[in-house]
Amino acid sequence: MKALVLSGGAGTRLRPFSYSMPKQLIPIANKPVLEHVLENIRDLDITDVGVIVGDWGPEIREVIGDGSRLGVRITYIPQEKPLGLAHCVAISRAFLGDDDFVLYLGDNMLPEGVADVAEQFTKTRPDAHVVVQKVPDPQGFGVAELGTDGRVEHLVEKPSRPRSDLALIGVYFFTDRIHRAVAAIGSSARGELEITDAIQWLVRHGHEVRASEYTGYWKDTGRVEDVLECNQQLLGCLTTDVRGDVDALSRLSGRVVIEEGARVLRSQVEGPVIIGAGTVVEDSRIGPGTTVGRHCVVRYTRLTYSIVMDGACITAVPGLRGSVIGRNATVGAGRVGDADHRLVVGDDTRIEVTA
Ligand code: DAU
Repeated sequence: MKALVLSGGAGTRLRPFSYSMPKQLIPIANKPVLEHVLENIRDLDITDVGVIVGDWGPEIREVIGDGSRLGVRITYIPQEKPLGLAHCVAISRAFLGDDDFVLYLGDNMLPEGVADVAEQFTKTRPDAHVVVQKVPDPQGFGVAELGTDGRVEHLVEKPSRPRSDLALIGVYFFTDRIHRAVAAIGSSARGELEITDAIQWLVRHGHEVRASEYTGYWKDTGRVEDVLECNQQLLGCLTTDVRGDVDALSRLSGRVVIEEGARVLRSQVEGPVIIGAGTVVEDSRIGPGTTVGRHCVVRYTRLTYSIVMDGACITAVPGLRGSVIGRNATVGAGRVGDADHRLVVGDDTRIEVTA
């Protein structure tokens, strides 16, 4: 079996971060979403992985490389424009050949993996096997209606009036029959070739499409709130590992990872927290539910339930919560005696200031 990972697209819901990096490289527990995805695929003993990339291809290649570091062999497949998930399958035909494959959306997190579903698919080999989970807001997803025997009876992409609350999770297993379906469908109202429509084509033409309801944790990391929640969820499984320096005046509690070369001085760190390699934390309180990337500086700051990306610098901010701070960003107090805030802020940035 092969894997096709979709790592193109625009990521408009993750602005402003998606102006400067692909959403699949946003760090969750200090590791890009795409690395979590590739590790899940490797855990299925799949080594041949096609990765669809769009305009951010060079950045993705730089971080992920040929995949050997993660135990997979990657073939990058460029997509000129984000024309839809089924379009990704169409342009990957040469890579996929007639093999069975798992289609995995590069922004979906399933930290408990999909080994059970893969096993079910391999055993029964329907033409398509989708994974679903109940959601409170099915309008934002592909939605499936199931028969009593786990067969899929009907699928619709982002329906305005959903007839079920079962959302399609971003992992799909296919035989080569999907290629006929992809070739047969036309573009949707939003101008994309939808994989949901291709699977619905299989259903309509009497092919076997099955579904498993996923009981583990799943998150489409499409919005900032989802990224924070997912980060918190992954931190729940952290194992304490202190490699950096922690001075005698600092206190660590709960599960805390202090990476190599990090320094924690006169500070309190309340886990779960990860402090990245080479980062300096001074006179601060960090955590819980917080990850600080590599080579950051955090001084005189209280920081909870947040993500700080590599190279950021935060000074003298007494209470930051639910924040995502981008790479190399600077956040800090103004000069002493200055009553006004000073902001240098890019497009689509969100700032909430307490009165
Ligand atoms: O997260 C699950 C949902 O993912 C499903 O319920 C929907 O049925 C499915 O269509 C998809 O919906 P999204 O609107 O969330 O898809 P998104 O545009 O975010 O794309 C998913 C991934 O695929 C993301 O990593 C970007 C990548 N992509 C997307 C498009 C449209 C590509 O690589 N190329 C593309 O043309």
